[in-house]
Order: sequence, then C-alpha cells, then structure tokens
Amino acid sequence: MRRKLVAGNWKMQGRQASNAALLQSLKAQTADWLGVDMWVAPPAAYLMQVAGLLQGSGIALAAQNVARENDGAFTGEVSAGMLVDCGCHAVIIGHSERRTHYGESDALVAEKFLKAQEAGLVPVLCVGETLDEREAGATAAVVRRQLDVVLAAAGVAALAQAVVAYEPVWAIGTGRTATPEQAQEVHALLRSRVAQDDEAVAAGLRLLYGGSVKAANAAALFAMPDIDGALVGGASLDANEFVAIARAARVAQ
Ligand code: 13P
Repeated sequence: MRRKLVAGNWKMQGRQASNAALLQSLKAQTADWLGVDMWVAPPAAYLMQVAGLLQGSGIALAAQNVARENDGAFTGEVSAGMLVDCGCHAVIIGHSERRTHYGESDALVAEKFLKAQEAGLVPVLCVGETLDEREAGATAAVVRRQLDVVLAAAGVAALAQAVVAYEPVWAIGTGRTATPEQAQEVHALLRSRVAQDDEAVAAGLRLLYGGSVKAANAAALFAMPDIDGALVGGASLDANEFVAIARAARVAQ
C-alpha cells in the first residue's frame, strides 16, 4: 500500500520567527497521530533552522531546488551534497515556477533529478500543463513528455526512490483546483506510463496532486485511487490548514 504524503512547499516565504511559530504549531498538532508522511520545504536560507526545529518530530525536510552541478564555482547555487548536509530528505525538482521564471528545460530537470538521487535525496518531480496546453487538448502529451525525459535519463528503477507531483499550472495559486476527476485522469495516465516500463514500480509510486489544495478540497482529492497525497503551496503556511489536509490524508489512508 502506498503511504499518503503531504508536502508543504513554502516557496519564497517565511522569516525565522514565522517559521518557528508555524513549526511549533505543526509539531504540537501532529505529535500523537501523524500516520502519514509530512514534509516541509522551506527556502534554502532556512533549511538549517528548520532542520533543527524538526528534530524528533517525524516531519521530514525537503528543499525546493538543487543545482545541476556538484560543489564548485557556481555562484548562488546550492548543491545536492549541501542539501544532504543540511538534513534534507527530499527535493522538489522541476516546479513549474522554475520552468517558467528560470527557464528550466526538461533536460535540465532530468539532470537535477539524477544529481539529487546520486546524493541520496528523494526527488519530487513536478509535471503539469499550462491552461493553453489544457485547452488545446495537450495535457496528456505534455505530462508524458515531462515524465519521459526523466525516464529516459534515469531509468524506471529510479522512480522507486522518487515521488511525482502533478501540478496543473492553471491551478497553482489561483484558487482554481483541478476537479478530483481531472486530477485522477492525469494520475492514472502517469501511473500507466510507468507501468509500461515496470508494473511494480508503478504500483508503488506515490503521485501527489498540487494546485490550490486546501482543507476543504483535500478529502475529495485523496479519495481518488491514484492520488497519494498533495504538494501544498499557500495552505502549507497555515498550520491549521496543513494539519487538516494531513488529517484528510490519514482518513483516506
Ligand atoms: P498552491 O497550493 O498555493 O496553489 O501552490 C501549489 C504548488 O505550487 C505547490 O508546489
């Protein structure tokens, strides 16, 4: 059985004081029941702070991005080895905000995926179509292409130690969630694409949905057979909302 996972992507938000308050509330509210996996991905500047605050909590640390290169003369970049050294368990790869605002190509995303795994991090590979692509009927082709590039570079076995997040770009930060049926359709497609290469890997692969997930819509999403959790943006900055999403995941577990 796939254990449900709720991951909070804080994006470029937070300060030491607000991080500490958020984590204190998360820890207090989840101490005695968690039963699902919970990860938080703060900005790189706060990884060390959050790693310290998470000790003994059962909540794991993730990063939002990783360099393609190993340590060296790459001003402003953070290497996979550094993320491990900071206590990271996982790293988000290929988020649409990085693809859109920082020009990350499918090929670069695949390189980062490999770099993360080499260092022992669990990559959370993000895929998803824009509104134009959805309206043009290209959703399946887009997400399959984004996944295929990584499958070609890393091989299907690599997905046994990875997570894939379907985040339709039109649903991110817009309040416009994909319906559970729309999300399920894409999740099923992604799982069946992996199953073409390896049925066991496909059966064990955790597929998260991301895009305006809130406490109010989480249960319906988690009731879908191929939705194994959520990658949560805005609602992960509110401890009560994020805990309520985790509770919905546990109920659906
Ligand atoms: P929102 O939950 O704010 O829509 O963000 C989703 C997301 O991009 C998570 O990575």
